[in-house]
Amino acid sequence: MKTAIITGSAGLIGSESVRYFAPSFDLIIGIDNDFRARFFGKEASVNWNKQLLTREIDNYRHLDVDICDQDEIHKIFEDHGSNVELVIHTAAQPSHDYASTNPRLDFAVNATGTLNLLESCRKHAPEAVFIYTSSNKVYGDRPNLLPLLEQETRYELEFGHPYASKGISERMRIDQTLHSIFGASKVAADIMVQEYGRYFGMNTGVFRGGCLSGPAHSGAKLHGFLAYLMRCIIFEEPYTIIGHKGKQVRDNLHSKDLVRMFDYFRKKPRAGEVYNAGGGRSSNISMLEAIKMGEEITGKQLQVSYEETARRGDHRWWISDTTKFETHYPGWSVTIGIEEIMQQLSESLVERREASSVK
Ligand SMILES: NC(=O)c1ccc[n+]([C@@H]2O[C@H](COP(=O)([O-])OP(=O)(O)OC[C@H]3O[C@@H](n4cnc5c(N)ncnc54)[C@H](O)[C@@H]3O)[C@@H](O)[C@H]2O)c1
Repeated sequence: MKTAIITGSAGLIGSESVRYFAPSFDLIIGIDNDFRARFFGKEASVNWNKQLLTREIDNYRHLDVDICDQDEIHKIFEDHGSNVELVIHTAAQPSHDYASTNPRLDFAVNATGTLNLLESCRKHAPEAVFIYTSSNKVYGDRPNLLPLLEQETRYELEFGHPYASKGISERMRIDQTLHSIFGASKVAADIMVQEYGRYFGMNTGVFRGGCLSGPAHSGAKLHGFLAYLMRCIIFEEPYTIIGHKGKQVRDNLHSKDLVRMFDYFRKKPRAGEVYNAGGGRSSNISMLEAIKMGEEITGKQLQVSYEETARRGDHRWWISDTTKFETHYPGWSVTIGIEEIMQQLSESLVERREASSVK
């Protein structure tokens, strides 16, 4: 029975992966214990999404298991053995702020949880393709050393800089910068996943996300920038811009476009490879620009305040260069741009509000 294991399956990337891969597999095993509610409160619970998946996808089986539980994870892989052809590992503690007050739990989930999955996969399904969702935070605050120009609504990289036309590539070094506690646990997992490819020869791949978004995101104050912003506009909740005058720039990749990357990779894996995965030059926005766009889409005005002190190490400008992936896998490109992402977020939040499952 051709099987895929997807961790964090009720989260943004996990649930998109379940829906995308369900038609190509006999069985999709989803692992998610709704730790998102534990990290960010019940408004961020992914329970609604778990219920949708269970109801709508016949070959989906949900397991409420903690990836930190080595024995449980081992048993899942033991039970399904070499039927497991694909592992997509998206379960994570995803916030800097949460990690700084809970470093042990952050490391247990992000680093040790990843090791548990790698080891179980090596023992019971060594031929499987193993995909890991890393983060651009592995580059620490090094992007903040780039020469930026301040424009009216955003920071922009100086014209002529090697990263200016396409964004930041995987050549940027990852050590000796300020990562934050979250960034450090992601680095540990990122390197481990690479090593299981390079050292053990497993088909592992690392995807370093910029900002990832989509209607399945349970946006929370501490994670999910666009989803949370749209939520505040639609539910008329106050929103605080934190630092950088609101001119910080993020690229945004729709969860569907990321999962399409996974599909290209799983069909022709390159062991231990690392790819930046973001919206790049075609899909990026500053905080000020996002507020304006969100207000235009919804016809509502955001109650916004400004906090002068930026988060420690927070990127002022991040745009991913995806040339490496596009060269290895011709055919892939960003298909859903920033405006459509925000439109979809708005529609899904309105639907969820009407179904009263968010509020
Ligand atoms: N969303 C982004 O902007 C973004 C950007 C860069 C990287 N990433 C990375 O992509 C991955 C997926 O992100 P997402 O946005 O889908 O996050 P998400 O929070 O929506 O999904 C993660 C899921 O993992 C589950 N989970 C957490 N700890 C768990 C545990 N111990 N055991 C089982 N399940 C657990 C949560 O309940 C949640 O449903 C993460 O590794 C994240 O660091 C996300």
